[in-house]
Formats: sequence, structure tokens, C-alpha cells
Amino acid sequence: MLLENKVALVTGAASGIGRSIALTLARDGAKVLVTDRSVDAGEETVALVLKAGGVAKFCQLDAANPDDHWRAVAQAQEHFGGLHIACNNAGISVGPSKVYRRAAEIALEDWDQMLAINLSGVFYGLRAQIPAMIATGGGAIVNTASVMGQVAGQNLSAYVASKHGVIGLTKSAALDYASQGIRINAVGPGYIATPMLEFKDSATLHSLAAKHPMGRLGFPQEIAELAAWLSSDRASFVTGAYYPVDGGYLAQ
Ligand SMILES: NC(=O)c1ccc[n+]([C@@H]2O[C@H](COP(=O)([O-])OP(=O)(O)OC[C@H]3O[C@@H](n4cnc5c(N)ncnc54)[C@H](O)[C@@H]3O)[C@@H](O)[C@H]2O)c1
Repeated sequence: MLLENKVALVTGAASGIGRSIALTLARDGAKVLVTDRSVDAGEETVALVLKAGGVAKFCQLDAANPDDHWRAVAQAQEHFGGLHIACNNAGISVGPSKVYRRAAEIALEDWDQMLAINLSGVFYGLRAQIPAMIATGGGAIVNTASVMGQVAGQNLSAYVASKHGVIGLTKSAALDYASQGIRINAVGPGYIATPMLEFKDSATLHSLAAKHPMGRLGFPQEIAELAAWLSSDRASFVTGAYYPVDGGYLAQ
């Protein structure tokens, strides 16, 4: 199997894309530490992995809390003997006010939370994961960015800034560790049918789907397949790269 004998950690794995990544890495043979701030839904992901014949454990992690990342890495080492793969996927699309505003009108708490989870959360992940991977003899990290890491959208400044940041961080960190057997890449989903889009009405979902030349939203599994490949030794010469999975969104 593609990921046999590998140990993986996935953040934001209680839902949507992260859950699909966890299930797919486990399908391909990895032992998976499922992490999320949501305990019940995270345990559900573990149950789904076990039901499919895979190996997984849950560890609660708030991506915005640096200590949680150290704790999660320690749990992967303790339960599964090391760390080879990390998918830094936890993210939010709107701040606590749940309102999309123009740049100068964004509430500070919305800005702070967006950057803390979506961007600092990836940095906190890297600083805990990379030393563990070096100790294990190498590894691969896949960060979930977005098409909004390459282009922009109105009333999305905080999200867009956080995802552009994820791509920049991915590239720069990849250069820092390229000679030590750590590959670091980013994936860029277009609009994907997950609970993140649930609060949008059907007319909005329709118009979002129409922004993709393929005329539909993506599915979480379509991101997970790329994440699994990038995590595997088949991608052995791939680092510092950003791969859209967007039905043609960025080609326009
Ligand atoms: N769905 C889309 O259209 C889309 C498009 C591009 C990028 N993305 C990115 O994909 C990633 C996953 O999104 P999704 O669509 O699966 O969303 P989702 O809402 O279905 O899942 C996000 C998961 O992250 C968890 N999470 C949120 N904040 C957290 C925190 N502070 N600590 C730990 N876990 C936290 C949630 O509990 C949830 O389980 C995000 O980074 C998102 O920005 C999504």
C-alpha cells in the first residue's frame, strides 16, 4: 500500500476535507492521528477509519494553540512510533461575527481569529512536526490553502490574506528543509461541498458552482487523493509546490 508503515497527523479532521484526508491516508495504509477542536465529530472520523479497516486515534487540538501541536505530535510518537506525514488542514472561512465585510471594515476579532487558525495554525504545526519528522528520518507535509491563496474575492480579505500566507509559508519552509528529507507542499481547493459551505443558500451555491469551468463544486475526496499522493514517496521530487484542485477555477 502507498502509505504502509507511515504515521500521519491531520488537523481539522472532524469534517469535510480533513475527514476525507484522514480516511484516504488510512485507506492507503497510514496510521492516522485524527485531530480537531471538535471531540465528538473527531471521534466519529476515527470510528469511520476503524470501520473501514484502518488504524486511527483521536487527539483534541485547537490549531490556534501552539501547545496543542506539540501534544499532538507527542501522541503520534507515543501511539504509533513517529511521524512521517502531516496535513495542516484546519481552517475557517469567516470569523466569529459570521459577517463578510470590506477590508477596512473587518472586525479585529474576525481578523485575529482568521489569521490565528488559518495561518498561525499552520506555522505552529510546522514547528512541532518538522523536528519529529527529522527524528523519524524524513517526512511530507501538505498544507490546505485555497484558490484564494492565489487570487482574491470581494469581502474576503482576511481569508485571502491567510491563504496567500499559507502558500508563502509552504514555499519558504520547503526551502529551509529540502536538504533534510522533509517535503512541504500546499493544495488549493476550489469551492468544495463540505459543511463550510452549509450556511450558504442554494442560489449562492449555484453561483459558486458556476464559477468553476467544470460547472460544479468539488468533493472532499478530490482533495484527499492529491494530499495522499503528495504525502507518499511517489511525490519524492515534489516540494515547495502549490497544486490547485479547482475544476479549472484558476485557469480562467
Ligand atoms: N470547502 C471549501 O470550499 C474550501 C475551499 C478552499 C479551501 N478550503 C479549506 O479546506 C480546509 C477544510 O475546510 P472544510 O471545507 O473541510 O471545512 P469544514 O468546516 O467542513 O471542516 C473544518 C474542520 O476544521 C475544524 N476546525 C476549525 N477551526 C479549528 C481549530 N481552531 N482547531 C482545530 N480544528 C478546527 C472544524 O472543527 C472542522 O472539523 C480549510 O482550511 C478551508 O479553508 C475549503
